[in-house]
Amino acid sequence: MDSITKDEHAFLLSCIRDIPDYPKKGIIFKDITPLLQNPEALKITTEALTRPYRGKEIDLVVGLESRGFLFGPSVAQNLGAGFIPVRKPNKLPFHKIAASYELEYGADTVEMHSDAVKKGQRVLIHDDLIATGGTAAAATELVQKLGGEIVGYSFLINLSFLNGKDKLDKNGLFEAVITL
Ligand code: PRP
Ligand code: MG
Repeated sequence: MDSITKDEHAFLLSCIRDIPDYPKKGIIFKDITPLLQNPEALKITTEALTRPYRGKEIDLVVGLESRGFLFGPSVAQNLGAGFIPVRKPNKLPFHKIAASYELEYGADTVEMHSDAVKKGQRVLIHDDLIATGGTAAAATELVQKLGGEIVGYSFLINLSFLNGKDKLDKNGLFEAVITL
């Protein structure tokens, strides 16, 4: 993303901690809690996630449970948009729609309230990280099922070697603050 300087990029990267073999052996977990803990990093990140979408008339920011709930509402507030949670199964109380996606072994499902998006609303999908793209693609399906228009995606971290971007709506913008 060119909306932050090289120094800011290096600073944010220094605030992301690698945890080997968490939550499973062979996975290197990207721990963003040091970034959240640092006021300057928090500010730079929130602004970097927002900036590409200023003036793009975003109606709703859709955040993906759970780490997409950390920055999603702040980005929505910056854009004068509402915030919609996409949640893991059986967490939402009202009428819902669901979308499933494949995992390495098995499948997973995400849900959204069926009145969350109105036809024609302009939507930004946000999460802390994109890996295979399965979660963000399922969220895309939910938004489109209700007639929402995907304007773009905003991730803090893109694990680009997993090509998650290829699963997403090609008409949407794709922005990641940190590409690994
Ligand atoms: C992680 C991450 C993204 C998702 C990315 O969430 O926060 O939401 O995986 O993976 P994908 O691109 O392969 O779908 P996780 O399922 O670990 O849950 P959490 O956010 O609740 O910690
Ligand atoms: Mg997540």
